[in-house]
Amino acid sequence: MNSHKVPKIVATPPGPKAKKILEEDERFLMQSFVRWYPLVVEKAEGCILTDVDGNEYIDLNAGIAVVSVGHRHPKVIEAIKEQCNRFLHYSLTDFYYNPAVELAKKLSKITPGKFEKKIFFCNSGAEAVEGALKIARGHFKGSRQYIMAYIGAFHGRLFGSMALTSSKPVQRKWFSPLLPGVEHVPYPYCYRCPWRQNYPECGYWCVDFIEDYYFKKYVPPDETACIIFEPIQGEGGYVVPPPEYWGHIRKLCDKYGILMISDEVQAGMGRTGRWFGIEHWNVTPDLIAIAKGIAAGLPLGAVVGRSEIMDLPRGSHASTFGGNPVSCAAASAVIDVIEGEKLLENASKIGEYTMKRFEEFQEKYELIGDVRGKGLMIGVELVKDRRSKEPAVKELNKILLKCFKKGVAVIGAGKSTIRIAPPLTISMELMEKAIDIIGESIGEVEREG
Ligand SMILES: Cc1ncc(COP(=O)(O)O)c(C=O)c1O
Repeated sequence: MNSHKVPKIVATPPGPKAKKILEEDERFLMQSFVRWYPLVVEKAEGCILTDVDGNEYIDLNAGIAVVSVGHRHPKVIEAIKEQCNRFLHYSLTDFYYNPAVELAKKLSKITPGKFEKKIFFCNSGAEAVEGALKIARGHFKGSRQYIMAYIGAFHGRLFGSMALTSSKPVQRKWFSPLLPGVEHVPYPYCYRCPWRQNYPECGYWCVDFIEDYYFKKYVPPDETACIIFEPIQGEGGYVVPPPEYWGHIRKLCDKYGILMISDEVQAGMGRTGRWFGIEHWNVTPDLIAIAKGIAAGLPLGAVVGRSEIMDLPRGSHASTFGGNPVSCAAASAVIDVIEGEKLLENASKIGEYTMKRFEEFQEKYELIGDVRGKGLMIGVELVKDRRSKEPAVKELNKILLKCFKKGVAVIGAGKSTIRIAPPLTISMELMEKAIDIIGESIGEVEREG
């Protein structure tokens, strides 16, 4: 694929082949998904997607922050093939194999904290989150039933993780009762502070609230097992907390002996220009949930934690497919590629440039209310009016559709935020083209009114 000629639209999408698949998808698949526009992928390489009608797109989604090292990275493919030639499966639940041990050693090294760690492998983000919850409650032998989570969070859609998730009512509606013991507090979303405060004059009132109201009025801290959080909220709108926030929460957790679980499913594995999002706050969590970017497209999740906390008794937690050897081999290759190709540096460099370009657009386009992010996890929040900050929901959808038709695959987050999360391998040349197309589309939508 020649990246100079991308994007390339040869049949207005959805083209005839795409239309047929869309019809059959609707007929044969349950339609509980989100789906932003009718992109039907046929193949993908690096940062370029080709649809079934031969259109080529710049991929700013990375399969929702999954293909960290780009699509079909040759070293990942090679590792997968090698493992396929050995064996595909033999369940860690009852037996042993080296690809899992090798990966566990690598994950121990790249995760924050210089202490001894242990790893639990599963298949997805929701499973990693739920594993972490069980580990936390289990560590206290059931004596601490409460779990603190954040409003606006997304931690998955299974019953345990759904009880934590609170970014849209549709995610929970009809499914109650949920896991008991979960209580939510507001996320430090400074652009839309629930207390209408301004940072830094607020003096971190959102942290005082947790101590002075949440813990003192209704949730006993000595019965709280853990606080689970996304270091940067993903589905909630790519929301970046202020600089000392997680440090304050760490202190609070230490004071009451509460475990801190960083859900790095979206922000981890190099996405933010550091291995894990929480590193931007110089904070070491007790447990980390990982998935998405870990195996560049193969299903894998992991919980990494202090050895003394990862102490569930035999038979209490396991998964038949968790830590599949092919996925583990792919994940080991992903870590090598991120290190070998200096992708953390690339994410920081391209991310900084992208932020700068969107800040320039913000001066030009009233629609852009806020630009925020770290590395290649960037949110551009759109508002109808900068004073009322009314979310520009329709405008977001129009912009995403225009981008798609022009050959840039990018989606939204929160109510009205453009979510930029390309593979960490993206080149400056491709990113510039994508930024130009997004900027042009914002301008068109603004003019159309
Ligand atoms: C922060 C976070 N946690 C958990 C999940 C759930 O992951 P999965 O869809 O693999 O279950 C997601 C998915 O978007 C996520 O962004």
